[in-house]
Amino acid sequence: AARRDLEGRTVLVTAGPTREPLDPIRFLSNRSSGKMGFALAEAARDRGARVVLVTGPVHLPDPAGVQVIRVETAAQMLEAVLRHAPAADAVIKAAAVADFRPARPAAHKIKKEAGAPVVELEPTPDILKELGRRKAPGQVLVGFAAETQDLLENANRKIREKNLDLIVLNDVTQPGAGFEVDTNIVTLVYRDGRHEALPPMPKRQVADAILDRLPWPRVRREAD
Ligand code: PMT
Repeated sequence: AARRDLEGRTVLVTAGPTREPLDPIRFLSNRSSGKMGFALAEAARDRGARVVLVTGPVHLPDPAGVQVIRVETAAQMLEAVLRHAPAADAVIKAAAVADFRPARPAAHKIKKEAGAPVVELEPTPDILKELGRRKAPGQVLVGFAAETQDLLENANRKIREKNLDLIVLNDVTQPGAGFEVDTNIVTLVYRDGRHEALPPMPKRQVADAILDRLPWPRVRREAD
């Protein structure tokens, strides 16, 4: 039986990709399947937490006993996350949020006859950074990082820039790690610079390993 060590806690998890429209039928997105975030939501639920899962478009069914909020764009994910973050004891951001979106999505289908369009992109809101800015005392904020180079340096920089407590680093170039697959290979990077490389494991086990190691601050927030 699972340990009920998250009883009385609220955990907010994000999962999946975002879709950024080019026109009413086309979008920019990425390969995230949602598996990592859904595994985290299910693991937190099994350990007794109240779980809110904000997910981009994925093919996975709603996990039982989890409040699921389905969104499409980074802007919608930001809104849903900011709505639920104040009540969360831990926020875990496994979603692969698009970093850029078309600056001016077309109102109608872009026609082939007009020639290949040049699409201007603009940055999306950085959800994690916003969460870091608003972090309540006692809240734990966990980011993921999908890097292909300079992994540890980038993680150490992000942890400070975004006011995180833990970064889960996956080297998405390794087979059996990152997007779409059922396993992951992660290194956990803490605020004090310590890091811990975990062996390849199914995403559910990675999820439990992360929950085992949540760096809870000493002050526990008063119940609302
Ligand atoms: O969904 P799966 O197929 O199971 O794949 C899992 C995964 C590879 C998507 C997951 O393990 C993972 O690494 N998720 C984060 C991917 C990512 O977007 O990494 P990043 O280095 O680009 O972003 C760093 C962090 O900032 C992430 O926590 C991300 O949620 C957050 N972010 C990024 C951009 C943005 N505009 N807002 C954000 O909050």
